[in-house]
Amino acid sequence: MLIAGNWKMNTDLPTARQLASAVVSSVGDPNPVRVAIFPPMVSIDAVFSVIHGSPVLLGAQNVHDGEYGAYTGEVSAPMLRSAGCHYVIVGHSERRQHFGETDETVNFKIASSRANRLVPVVCVGETLSERDAGREKQIVERQIRAGMKGVAIGSGLEMVVAYEPIWAIGTGRTATPEQAQEMHALIRKILIDLFGKTSGSDIDILYGGSMKPGNAAELLSQPDVGGGLIGGASLKAEDFAAIVAAAVKAV
Ligand code: 13P
Repeated sequence: MLIAGNWKMNTDLPTARQLASAVVSSVGDPNPVRVAIFPPMVSIDAVFSVIHGSPVLLGAQNVHDGEYGAYTGEVSAPMLRSAGCHYVIVGHSERRQHFGETDETVNFKIASSRANRLVPVVCVGETLSERDAGREKQIVERQIRAGMKGVAIGSGLEMVVAYEPIWAIGTGRTATPEQAQEMHALIRKILIDLFGKTSGSDIDILYGGSMKPGNAAELLSQPDVGGGLIGGASLKAEDFAAIVAAAVKAV
């Protein structure tokens, strides 16, 4: 089980330090649930200093698929690795929507993350119109199969998938536990097909989209929901701690 806080384009350097420190204080050591935070790039190093030595893991929100070179403004997997990152979010719907990411660029980014020993948190999910048209399973299956093309893993701990229905992100509207479970079961089936029974069964499949203290327990109790990718509620230390506590109860 993994509870991951995606801070998106929020916090400046001092508030990132404060929030990271509050997360560290609220997480037990050792903790039965993995906890990770994903600050903005500019705060990665400062947050690493705050959480270093605690069970809280660090992740970045994006990565370029190359290693070094003339790509102004970009940050690569070896750079993130050297800054203390364990995870990186790849293919978040906001990046697909606003920054032109495609299944193909997602595939390159996953490959580079793996080659540099970062664990990709691969985001998939359908729009409301795709769900209304009954195409949500087809969309998610395409995103996973195309994103993972040619990717190999040694164990299920080397990959995370996050199902984030776009209509549930930042809207206050969550998928019902049944809708989440139905999609997660399909994702589990595809992952077993791609990576084999052992690794495919061990990959954490996170749910994301308006997860809050009030709905976390129910979502996390679904058999194929292996954690949460939290946006808005990860910016409030008490709310994030409450979701971590719900996860601890669910394991
Ligand atoms: P919210 O929790 O704000 O809906 O965001 C979800 C998300 O996009 C996490 O990556």
